[in-house]
Amino acid sequence: MQTHNIIPMPVQMTPGAGAFALDAETAVAYDAPALAAVAEFLAGLLRPATGLPLPVQPATGAQPNRIHFTTGADPELGDEGYELAITPTVVTVRAPQPAGHFYAVQTLRQLLPPAVESSTQQPGPWLLPAGTIRDYPRYGWRSAMLDVARHFFGVADVKRYIDLLALYKFNRLHLHLSDDQGWRIEIKSWPRLAEVGGRTAVGGAPGGYYTQADYAAIVAYAAARHIVIVPEIDMPSHTNAALAAYAELNCDGVARSPYTGVEVGFSSLCVEKEITYRFIDDVLRELAALTPGPYLHIGGDEAHATLDEEYRIFMARVQELVSRHGKRPVGWEEMGKAQMRRDALLQQWRLTPDAADHALSAAAQGAQVILAPANRTYLDMKYDEQTPLGLTWAGYITPEQSYTWEPSTLIPGLDPAAIAGVEAALWAETLVTIADIEYMAFPRLPGIAEIGWSPAGRSWDEYRPRLAAHKPRWDALGVNYYKAPDLE
Ligand code: ACM
Repeated sequence: MQTHNIIPMPVQMTPGAGAFALDAETAVAYDAPALAAVAEFLAGLLRPATGLPLPVQPATGAQPNRIHFTTGADPELGDEGYELAITPTVVTVRAPQPAGHFYAVQTLRQLLPPAVESSTQQPGPWLLPAGTIRDYPRYGWRSAMLDVARHFFGVADVKRYIDLLALYKFNRLHLHLSDDQGWRIEIKSWPRLAEVGGRTAVGGAPGGYYTQADYAAIVAYAAARHIVIVPEIDMPSHTNAALAAYAELNCDGVARSPYTGVEVGFSSLCVEKEITYRFIDDVLRELAALTPGPYLHIGGDEAHATLDEEYRIFMARVQELVSRHGKRPVGWEEMGKAQMRRDALLQQWRLTPDAADHALSAAAQGAQVILAPANRTYLDMKYDEQTPLGLTWAGYITPEQSYTWEPSTLIPGLDPAAIAGVEAALWAETLVTIADIEYMAFPRLPGIAEIGWSPAGRSWDEYRPRLAAHKPRWDALGVNYYKAPDLE
């Protein structure tokens, strides 16, 4: 079984003899109505390149020549695990929950030749090597973040990124929806946020915002790929766009000028005014209603224009507002200065001793920690001095550096049980198009996926050729990846 090119590496693989060949008679069958969607998803994925009909139908009896989605898997596989059994006559996909079937589909597509990703018909043959795979994730939180505030990316771009995340079994997309340079989500009770705050972007680029219908379309598209949207409204700093839209949110009652630069930490909501909390409550209420996922991200980073004592009171109070809307608060690492709710998640991006203390304090209060170390997982950092896009404040990050770190030992003293998972973040000060996003994300993104999914004990020497083998797949998908010298 040529399983060595699957990313993330599955937990357990056992080779068999021969292969299952997709042909004009192959069907996709499912046992339970809840599995029809994933069966259709697989067939829809395979039809363009294979040109095969691949009819999707409820399973009857024990027909050969089918890919069979079935329940009745070992419950120990968990909500996202699956088992795949491939013989020359039948492929059986078993999972306790539909998310597991969906991840099995991602493994199946990676077992097929890269040309299967093409949108036009390719010659084949389409062979799935025989064997069995038993697989489940190490962490339940495997996210990517997209900054749509510094530059705006439309619904089609976000869907494209979601498709690429799904291939690598990510299960969260964190959307950074507001910052100094732009406000990107329609809020009906505060319409000027999008109308005025949405107009700007870094360097005078065109702004934009998602209508609530746009956002709902993103949520639905992600959900069909078992990806939960985690919306972020950054506060109390990174709020100039809101402060420009509504004068009354400023302590001095004077609207701020629109901002299109790239400095951070200069803005602050007026933490002593009650209207600030009515504003936040309204925004969180609308966002919670639009967001089926259980999380609302409230930022909290780089609040250099907010007094520490006020910051602590503010972040504690806003966590309670999130909770009142039935969601779990997520905040950047600085939120660990404040009292944390037990159901909160702290997102670690800095690794300095004081930042590490925030993670330890969060864990001691029962909160969980998401690891997004800037010097490893910030995909907007340049690869090297030649990289035309990106920033350097956290250093250059080669594909090797983004891959060779271990979550359980990243923060000394942090209980591994407090680690929710990992995030690959992509800030967009220098990124304008989806091609720019792809250039910074690939080839580093799949490595973060593997850190989030696969068991500990990785090696770059083993991973490097496996990653390089994905280049023809990215070519078939039209991904604008960086041609890393060490993958040549
Ligand atoms: C951050 O990078 N400011 C979270």
